[in-house]
Amino acid sequence: MSPRIARLRALEILDSRGVPAIEVEVTLSDGATATAQAPSGASTGRHEAVELRDGEAERYGGKGTRRACGHVEGEIARALAGMEARDQAAVDGRMVELDGTADKSRLGANAILGVSCAVARAVSVSRREPLWRTLSELGGDAGEAKLPVPMVNILSGGLHAGRRMEFQDFLAVVHGFGSFSEALRAATDIHGETKRILDEAGYTLTGVADEGGWGPALRTNEEALQVLTEAIERAGYRPLEQVSIAIDAAASHFYEDGRYELQSEGRWLTAEEMVELYARWAGRYPIRSLEDGLEEDDWAGWEALTQRMGGAMQLVGDDLFTTNPARLRRGIDTGAANAVLVKMNQIGTLTETFAVLRMAREAGYRAVVSARSGETEDSFLADLACASGAGQIKVGSVTRSSRLAKYNRLLGLERDGELSWRASTSYPE
Ligand code: PGA
Ligand code: ZN
Repeated sequence: MSPRIARLRALEILDSRGVPAIEVEVTLSDGATATAQAPSGASTGRHEAVELRDGEAERYGGKGTRRACGHVEGEIARALAGMEARDQAAVDGRMVELDGTADKSRLGANAILGVSCAVARAVSVSRREPLWRTLSELGGDAGEAKLPVPMVNILSGGLHAGRRMEFQDFLAVVHGFGSFSEALRAATDIHGETKRILDEAGYTLTGVADEGGWGPALRTNEEALQVLTEAIERAGYRPLEQVSIAIDAAASHFYEDGRYELQSEGRWLTAEEMVELYARWAGRYPIRSLEDGLEEDDWAGWEALTQRMGGAMQLVGDDLFTTNPARLRRGIDTGAANAVLVKMNQIGTLTETFAVLRMAREAGYRAVVSARSGETEDSFLADLACASGAGQIKVGSVTRSSRLAKYNRLLGLERDGELSWRASTSYPE
C-alpha cells in the first residue's frame, strides 16, 4: 500500500535575516516523517507568488507567519488528508485549487511550498532513499541526475548589502575542477583572497552580506570585477578555464522611470547603454554569465541583449521569469534570455518547478537552481539541483550556515558516489 498523508504540522521559524519563515512537518500513514522550510527573497520579482505575512505590526513588524502556519494545519491538512503522498502532482494541484488565486496569496506560497517539499521528503524517508532520487523520479528525468557546478557569491551589493553598489552579486563559477569538493575549495580560496585584496586597498569590512559574500563600498561597480578577477588569479586559478565570473545585476532594483540609476557613480544609463556596458565588461573580464541584466518587464530590451550577447554568454532570467511557466514560454517564443533561474518559492510548488525545468530543457535553455537571500538551514535545494540535472546551483557564498547546509549536503552526496561530476574547461556548456 502506498503511504498516505496522515498529519501536517507547521512552525513559525526564523530565516537567515532573523525574519519569520515557515517549517512544515508531514507524517505519512506508514509513520515516515519529514520537514521542509520555505525561504524568502529580498530583491523579489514583481511576478512572484506571494508569501503570506500576518500583518500584525506589533509582532515581527508584521512579518509573522502564524496565519500561514494556521492554513497548513487547518484548510490544507483537511484537504490533503488521505491523499497518496507519491502523487506529488495531485497533492500540489489540490493546494493550488484550494488556494484559488493566481499568485497563491490566499493560503500563502510559503505555506504551500513548505507542504509540497515536506511531502516529497517524507516519500523519500518512506522509501529509504536519498531525496534526490525521489525528486528525479518526479521530474521524469532520472537519467540526468548529476552534481551541479556551484556559482558562488563573492561580492554583494544592491538590496543584499545596503546598496553600497548597485549590481547585486559578483560570483565565481568554479567549473574546471576534478570534483565538486575541489571546486568548492577553490571558491573558498577566492573568497579569502578577495578579503585580502580589499584589506590591502583599505576597505573596511565589518561583516558579510546577506548571502555571505563581502559587501564593501567600492568606488565603482566595475571595481568589483577588477577585485574578483585579481582574486581568481592570486588564488592560483586560471580565468575562464577553471573559474568564470557571473554577475547578477538584479537590474529591476535600480531601474526608475526608464533609466538605470548608478547612483554610487552619479550616472544614469538607458537600456542600450547598459548593453554597451556589459559588452565592454565582457571584453575586459572573464564574465560568462549575466543574470537580470535588464529590467523585469523590458521584453524588447531582453531580446536585444540576447541577440547581442547570447552567443558566448549565459543570460539568466530571474525577476524576468520568476520561475513561472507562462513567462518562460514568452521568453522562449521571443528569444529573451537563454537560461532561467529556478527558485521554488517564486512559483510555490514542486510540480510547477519541475514544469519550468522541463520547459527549459526542451527549449535548450539552461537552468540554475537557486536559493533566496533569506534562507534556512534546509538543504533541499542541493538534492533538487542534482535531481533536475540542471548542472548549476546558486546558493550564496561559502560562509553562513544557511548556505553551507546546501554545499555540505552536496559534499555528502559526492562522497556517496552515486552522482557524477563533470569538470568543464569551457563554461557555460
Ligand atoms: P533574492 O535574491 O532572494 O533577494 O530575490 C536572489 C537573487 O536575486 O538571485
Ligand atoms: Zn537574481
